[in-house]
Amino acid sequence: MKGVILAGGLATRLRPLTWVTNKHLLPIYNKPMVYYPLEALAKAGIKEVLISSSPDHSGQFASLLQSGDKFGLKLYYSVQTNPKGGIANAIALAEEFARGEKIAVVLGDNIFNFDLKSAVDKFNKKEKGAMIFGIRMPAMESRHYGVIEIDKAGKVLSIEEKPEHPKSNIAQTGIYLYDSRVFEFIKRQKPSARGELEVTDLNNFYLSEGSLECGLIDWWIDAGTSHDELLRANNLVADKVKSGQL
Ligand code: G1P
Repeated sequence: MKGVILAGGLATRLRPLTWVTNKHLLPIYNKPMVYYPLEALAKAGIKEVLISSSPDHSGQFASLLQSGDKFGLKLYYSVQTNPKGGIANAIALAEEFARGEKIAVVLGDNIFNFDLKSAVDKFNKKEKGAMIFGIRMPAMESRHYGVIEIDKAGKVLSIEEKPEHPKSNIAQTGIYLYDSRVFEFIKRQKPSARGELEVTDLNNFYLSEGSLECGLIDWWIDAGTSHDELLRANNLVADKVKSGQL
């Protein structure tokens, strides 16, 4: 399995911090944000990772992360020229890199500390399918995310992108495992009302064929949504690092 980190976008909500740099290079406690998903993929046993970023900032990623040696990884870089294309559009850029292997996709502003390695190992044994990861949120908070509805056995019943009336309090995180058919599914996608190729629509292809699994995790931050979330992420990560949990 290969890894893909999506670190593009304009991050307009974080301006003026993001006028001259990319959001994923901003500090979270003692490291640039992108270190967290990168180290998580390395810990999960993934050896090759593609970092997809914005045209103005790809050089900064290369200067910072270089060949990937210091993470025990082999890094590749790609440039997303359409920052408003959506997550699935960004994943599509990894087709050549994947070379028919399964991929683990992580949004570059997602910080988490669950056992991704076990999930990856289990997923690697499967012939086909996709796996998403959900987290329980306080009531109504989930509506800011993709919302996953599951039954008592943990089977996914539906995923809806930022619904007004969420069917559950489980938010879809930005961590996804896909089989090699993912690129074919993306080619069949149509842009959503906000003009993006949505990761939720992509995951729904797998749901409709009955091959989508959902793992529940209990600590995750989407560090890049607002100045307040960025500050909160810094404080939470500092606590976790100091107590040896991250
Ligand atoms: C995206 C996905 C959403 C997911 C979220 C996680 O939302 O579309 O389903 O819950 O990432 O961070 P965006 O942040 O692009 O609005």
